[in-house]
Amino acid sequence: MKSTRDYHWPEPIVRVQSLSDSGICTIPTKYVKPLNDRPCLSNFSDVNIPTIDLEGMNNCKEISEACRDWGFFQVVNHGVPPELMDEARQVWREFFHQPMDVKQSYGNTPKTYEGYGSRLGVEKDAILDWSDYYFLHYLPAYLKDYNKWPALPSSLREVMEEYSKQVVNFGGRLMKILSENLGLNEDVLQNAFGGEDIGACLRVNFYPKCPQPDLTLGLSPHSDPGGMTILLPDKHVAGLQVRRNANWITVKPASHAFIVNIGDQIQILSNAIYKSVEHRVMVNSTEERISLAFFYNPKSDLMIEPVKELLTTHNISPLYPPRTFDQYRLYIRTKGPQGKSQLGESNKSNPQHDKCN
Ligand code: OGA
Ligand code: NI
Repeated sequence: MKSTRDYHWPEPIVRVQSLSDSGICTIPTKYVKPLNDRPCLSNFSDVNIPTIDLEGMNNCKEISEACRDWGFFQVVNHGVPPELMDEARQVWREFFHQPMDVKQSYGNTPKTYEGYGSRLGVEKDAILDWSDYYFLHYLPAYLKDYNKWPALPSSLREVMEEYSKQVVNFGGRLMKILSENLGLNEDVLQNAFGGEDIGACLRVNFYPKCPQPDLTLGLSPHSDPGGMTILLPDKHVAGLQVRRNANWITVKPASHAFIVNIGDQIQILSNAIYKSVEHRVMVNSTEERISLAFFYNPKSDLMIEPVKELLTTHNISPLYPPRTFDQYRLYIRTKGPQGKSQLGESNKSNPQHDKCN
């Protein structure tokens, strides 16, 4: 049954970019996080997520360890042309720098989330994140609607078609490695996703400058509900943090690397051998940040459950009941980012407020 909630946001939408451009010195209370959820901006650590050279030796073993231990890794020599990556980032930067009325014509609703958006979740009075975004579908082909992709800049659709094709291809290569690393035939994970009928969508995140970056987050802690995420981070501005036990590790991207992370659906298929790890984004007062998160997902109406062959081989019981991805992602689309609670894991052991004072 459809309710009006499907079609409307609970409150008027405010574009974070407009707030930022207005030159305010203090952020509205709606963006102020509770003390324990605030970031520590002066957390200088050398620790980084693992880097995998896809043309190097031992990369399967390194990927295997990264999926089990970190849930995150960055990939260099992945085969996607660096110029295409730069162009993709550039067309979106141009999109976000157009006049507001141009962007407003793509304004999204919680029904599909497609288009220009400024919040995730429909709970009234929620504390919001300091970011705007653009969400679009690439696969399945019948969901791809160029009219919902920005018309300007004029090269955007062409650049993003090529970029998406290449990233899907890269994702397919990773799926084979992930499957073999579980001791399964290389096609098992891909087949569990629906074979050729996978879903693929893009969320372009735009994080405007923030006058009080210590009080808020660009994106609250969450795990990605889909299969696997292939992220093109900003070329110069850091911000993504990955949870590692009680710490938040700031990702330092290598030049033209993709940041890859395991999503909830692969955690479920692998019966938690691979981890879908929480992450969040910090903002800063001096530079905007842009990132392209490409989600490689299962066909949305297939049942996803731990792979039977894994359970029998290791003599283990399934940790998750079968559910479709459609059923599953309703949670984050309603409640917004809520750590890992959608996987039935408590958020109680979350890292406490970083001690930087
Ligand atoms: C996301 C995400 C990280 C980033 O879009 O799900 O985690 O660096 N983005 O923008
Ligand atoms: Ni994410």
